[in-house]
Amino acid sequence: MNQTPDYIQELRSKFPILKTKVHGKALVYFDNAATTQKPLEVIERVQSYYASENANIHRGVHHLSQVATQGYEDARKLIQNYIGAGKESEIIFTKGTTDSINLVASSFGGLLQEGDEILISAMEHHSNIVPWQLIARKNKLTLKVIPVHRNGELDMEVFETMVSEKTKLISITHISNTLGTINPIKDIIEKAHSFGAKVLIDGAQSIQHGKINVSDLDCDFFVFSGHKIFGPTGIGVLYGKEALLELMPPYQGGGDMIKRVSFEETTFNELPFKFEAGTPNIVGGIALGTAIKFLKSIDTKQAFSYEKRLLNYAEEELKKIDEMTLIGTAAEKTSLVSFNVGKIHPFDIGTLLDKQGIAVRTGHHCTQPLMDFFNIPGTLRASFAFYNTIEEVDVFINALKRSLSILK
Ligand code: ALA
Repeated sequence: MNQTPDYIQELRSKFPILKTKVHGKALVYFDNAATTQKPLEVIERVQSYYASENANIHRGVHHLSQVATQGYEDARKLIQNYIGAGKESEIIFTKGTTDSINLVASSFGGLLQEGDEILISAMEHHSNIVPWQLIARKNKLTLKVIPVHRNGELDMEVFETMVSEKTKLISITHISNTLGTINPIKDIIEKAHSFGAKVLIDGAQSIQHGKINVSDLDCDFFVFSGHKIFGPTGIGVLYGKEALLELMPPYQGGGDMIKRVSFEETTFNELPFKFEAGTPNIVGGIALGTAIKFLKSIDTKQAFSYEKRLLNYAEEELKKIDEMTLIGTAAEKTSLVSFNVGKIHPFDIGTLLDKQGIAVRTGHHCTQPLMDFFNIPGTLRASFAFYNTIEEVDVFINALKRSLSILK
C-alpha cells in the first residue's frame, strides 16, 4: 500500500536535481521549506532568456527590449491569474517575501501613528517580526504578539481579545515554516476587517502547498517568494489591494518608479511600477512565470493531497522512535515534520543524515522567539514537496535510526 504512485514518479522525473548523488548516495531532498527544486522547463527558461532575449525592460525602443518587457509583463499576468488577484497592477515584483514585508512595513507602516497597534504571532519568521519592530520603534507603534499553544496552534481565544479599534494591521503567516501549522487566516481576516484593520498574509510556506485565491481570502496583502514555488531565487511578489497601494508612498526611489523628475518636484509612476525602482530581476520574473505555467500544467489537486500522505506516513514512523518529541502537532498541518530526539543536538543528527545523502534543515529556522517558547535551541526539520516519495521517507527513517544509534 505504501508505495509512491506513478503520477508522482512522473512529476519527479521533471526535476533533474533529484537524480543527484550526495556523498555517493542518492539525494533525498527534504529541505523544501527552505527552497524548492526547479523543473527542467524553469531551468531552460533562464538559459533561453540570456541566450536570446536579454535586454533591459520598460526602456528600449528596440526589439529585444520589447521582447524582454513582454516576457516580464506576461509573467505578472500569469501570477495575477494564479493567485486570483483582480488586477495586474496589484502584483508588485520584489526580491522575495522578506523584501515584500519590508516594503509594506516601511510604506504602509510609515503611515501609522503613535498608539496604533500591529499584531503578529509568536510563530512568525524573523522576516515578519523585525521589519515591524523597526517601524514600531520609528513611529512609536505598539507591536503585539498573538500567543501559540504547545501543540503549535494559535491561541484564537486570546487573539479575539487582542483585536480592537487600535489595531491597524495584522501580519501573520499562513503556514508556520517551523511547525507546519496552517493558521485559520480566513477567520483572522474577517475579525480584523470587523475592526477596520488590514491583514498581510505571509504566504512563503503556503504558496507551494495549495491553491491561493487572494480575492476569496479578501486579504489586503499577500506575499511570497518565487524560489519556494519552483521558481528562481531573488524574485518574489507582493499582492496588495489597489486602493491601499495607491494610498501608500513609494518604498524606494530610482528609475522606472517615476513619471517626471525635476530638482523641484518628482511625480511617481502608476501601479505597479511606483513600487519597482531600478532594473528588476527580469529573468527571475520570467522564469517564475514558467514555474506557474508548470503548476498549471499538472494536477495540483492530486499532488497537494499526496503531500498529506507523506506527512502522515513520516509522522507515524517518527512516533515509533524512542524519546521522539514532535514540535508542531496542530490538527491542520502542512507536509513538514520538526522534532528533537532526547537531548541530542539536531545539528549532530543533521550532519550524520547529510553523510547518508539526506538534506534536512537544523536549527532555529529563523524563529528564535518560537524556540524560546518551546525552550529548545532548535529542531531538525524535514519538509516535503510533491516530488518526494514514500520510499524516500523509508530511507530517511532508517538513516535517522542509524544516526541515533551512533549518537546515543
Ligand atoms: N524560511 C526558510 C526556511 O524556513 C528559509 O527554511
